[in-house]
Amino acid sequence: DDLVLILYRVVGQGTTIMCDAGEGGSLSVLGPLGSGFEMPHKGETSVLVAGGMGIAPLIFLASIMESGSFIFLSGFGSGEEIVATDEIGFSGIDLSISTDDGSAGHRGLVTELMKNRLTGFDGKTNPSVFACGPLPMLKEVAAITLDGALPCQVSLEATMACGLGACQGCAIRGSLEQNTAYYHVCQDGPVFDVNALDWGAL
Ligand code: FES
Repeated sequence: DDLVLILYRVVGQGTTIMCDAGEGGSLSVLGPLGSGFEMPHKGETSVLVAGGMGIAPLIFLASIMESGSFIFLSGFGSGEEIVATDEIGFSGIDLSISTDDGSAGHRGLVTELMKNRLTGFDGKTNPSVFACGPLPMLKEVAAITLDGALPCQVSLEATMACGLGACQGCAIRGSLEQNTAYYHVCQDGPVFDVNALDWGAL
């Protein structure tokens, strides 16, 4: 149906405007822009790793994956910040939770949960990893997956002004193996293969 669901936290001017628009208000929106996740091959297991609001694209990804084909790990600052997926229309998504303060689920980082769960795979049935969240979390996800040679796609967050590849505000460095020195998160991403990026420069 004609429904767009936007999950966001109020952190600045733009999100304050969205919040103040209220019921019946109107906003100008440009999109959809850029690229999304590539779906895993049939029969593969996927590990979805979310940090905070980074859960948003992964909820949509999970909703189109076969049930039982993925493990969904989600980290939050505290139990109060947990996004109740069933309350926003996505029932039956089973989240393994971590919180920084230990008020719900595993106390600690979601990447610790990720490392624990990856030990359950024997090397022949390595999963694909899909991740979205704050940069320090994504760097750790990149380190783990590059070290284990696991397929991994990350969805990056970036401050975007134009959304069209013109202002360079969202430019990030490509890895040395790439022919492209810089990517635009708005146009080339926000989803990238983990091997495409220069993680040391991020
Ligand atoms: Fe302007 Fe990406 S937001 S180049």
